[in-house]
Amino acid sequence: MIKSLTKHFIDLENSYGAQNYHPLPVVLKKGKGIYLWDVDGKKYFDFLSAYSAVNQGHCHPKIVSALIKQSSILTLTSRAFYNNVLGDYEKFLTEYFGYDRLLPMNTGVEGGETAVKLARKWGYKIKRIKKNKAKIIFVSGNFWGRTLAAISSSDDPVSKRDFGPFMPGYEIIPYNDLTALKEALIDPNVVAFMVEPIQGEAGVVVPDENYLPEAFKLCKKNNVLFIADEVQTGIGRTGEMICCDHYGFKPDILVLGKALSGGVFPVSAVLSSHEIMLTIKPGEHGSTFGGNPLACKVVMASLNVIKDEELCLNAKKLGNIFRSMMNDYILSSNVVSLVRGKGLLNAIVINDDEKSETAWNICLKLKENGLLAKPTHGNIIRFAPPLTISLSEITLATEIIIDTLKSFEKK
Ligand SMILES: Cc1ncc(COP(=O)(O)O)c(C=O)c1O
Repeated sequence: MIKSLTKHFIDLENSYGAQNYHPLPVVLKKGKGIYLWDVDGKKYFDFLSAYSAVNQGHCHPKIVSALIKQSSILTLTSRAFYNNVLGDYEKFLTEYFGYDRLLPMNTGVEGGETAVKLARKWGYKIKRIKKNKAKIIFVSGNFWGRTLAAISSSDDPVSKRDFGPFMPGYEIIPYNDLTALKEALIDPNVVAFMVEPIQGEAGVVVPDENYLPEAFKLCKKNNVLFIADEVQTGIGRTGEMICCDHYGFKPDILVLGKALSGGVFPVSAVLSSHEIMLTIKPGEHGSTFGGNPLACKVVMASLNVIKDEELCLNAKKLGNIFRSMMNDYILSSNVVSLVRGKGLLNAIVINDDEKSETAWNICLKLKENGLLAKPTHGNIIRFAPPLTISLSEITLATEIIIDTLKSFEKK
């Protein structure tokens, strides 16, 4: 039952806000580490981490301290002038990820848009594609945000309905299908292949082990840029700094967002080579807030936390424990048909169709039992706690998940 304070805040949002989300009925007021508290003081394990934006845990003291310190010195200059933080930040980030140059933006979708623009520009300037002929290949089930450029590449009818006309120059091929990619790359107008190494919003869909490195090789063979959208999979989430590190190749263009700032501030970044990045000239792309000194300081602090606290390693180890506990459980389950994921980006597939309410009802019950998670695509529940979670905490949380699932078993 919804309690009165909770109802008050939900009613406010329902009355005054656009209704473009369908949240779980819980109103949060505080976060610390892996925990969240609602307005009635109830404590929860956070198993969503704001869609993998809070990898470093809520309100990490070192990140918050960087924010507070810089916020009283200088927050925004715009790029009309230089500032004394951006250069340090660009050097720090390019060295951290092993790229030549950085283009700073704010949200993940702007990062994706930047990558698409860069690829097109590179196509015309370097690959010498004929005017307005550039084509970018995407895969089915992709998600990179909600702008028109992003939904134009989507094959999800809900995100596209009544928003047309859409952007031309895209082709969607099946995911995890190297033959389809090989065929698509025959067109000489293809400039880039853009892909999430693991599809987050599609339900944590992990491709075959050889898919990504082979796709990269195919791109190289055809003089096509490989764009990795690591907005959700990056920053330690899958057990490596970026997910492509599992497969031993370096994408031509890397898009990062979300946990880049530890969830404290909307910051995204596009990293690439001199050749690709320098095709874009002054006036051709930008953002008022992109590269602001406050964001730069926050990101440097948040990336130091990832290394100092060895969060990639923790994600790898505890992810294995989570999947192993879940796999033991599903051997005798008729509620869950599959657990999948890498590091601490995981999901379970509920043994029911997409239209059923089962996954939603399981999430409501999980909430009652002190753990927050959200269904994606109707019958899939993603589990992505902050990477700062400890062994005892993940064990306890997984026991809560299993006990909750058991209460849905059909006798
Ligand atoms: C893989 C991926 N790319 C891009 C985005 C868009 O990020 P933002 O919501 O910050 O624009 C998301 C958001 O969920 C995402 O999962």
